[in-house]
Amino acid sequence: MANDALPNAAEAVEEIRRVRQARRYEPEPVPEEVLEQLLDVARWTGSSRNTQPWHFIVVTNKEQLRRISEIRTPINWVADAPLAIAIVLDGANPSSEAYDEGRVTERLLIAARFLGLGGGTAWFGDEAQQAQGKALLGVPEERTARSVVVIGYPTTTVDHRPNPATGGRRSLAEVVSYERLGDGRPDRP
Ligand SMILES: Cc1cc2nc3c(=O)[nH]c(=O)nc-3n(C[C@H](O)[C@H](O)[C@H](O)COP(=O)(O)O)c2cc1C
Repeated sequence: MANDALPNAAEAVEEIRRVRQARRYEPEPVPEEVLEQLLDVARWTGSSRNTQPWHFIVVTNKEQLRRISEIRTPINWVADAPLAIAIVLDGANPSSEAYDEGRVTERLLIAARFLGLGGGTAWFGDEAQQAQGKALLGVPEERTARSVVVIGYPTTTVDHRPNPATGGRRSLAEVVSYERLGDGRPDRP
């Protein structure tokens, strides 16, 4: 079954390309109906053998956001966000669950942008920091909890941290090969 292209496909694709990590937000809460839509997008994400190895913890309590933000300095901006969704994984199959977690995260970030919001991922860090995150979220040790997806109305996508990640992207020529690694685009007839 072929799908029809969206009437505004070019615009939608450009919007996806422009999804950036936002770390600063307006104080406005995320409306309940928007949150419901986002959670529905999350739960419909594909996963390995449709195992749906996740559980989502909605965090809006200021104190809880602050405690999460204190796990690691590079995520201290979480304290001032209106919403974080912690992704908890079953812990049964770490490598496929890591992939599934990435897919959920990206869908949430794209959906947030389509809905006029923005977001970012915040990783807890090493084993000890993940243990701290799990303890805060009430997640048992044997499960995986290492990140939250933060959502809100962004004021900027500039990385304001003292040690910001470099921006921009490598060129297509640098990251794409044809047929074999390192081979350039074949001549077309
Ligand atoms: C696996 C992963 C972990 C990340 N962890 C953090 C984090 O802990 N704190 C943070 O501020 N940004 C984090 N980021 C966001 C990246 O810094 C960001 O995606 C990258 O710098 C590109 O930014 P841009 O999309 O805004 O250009 C993480 C991204 C990924 C994919």
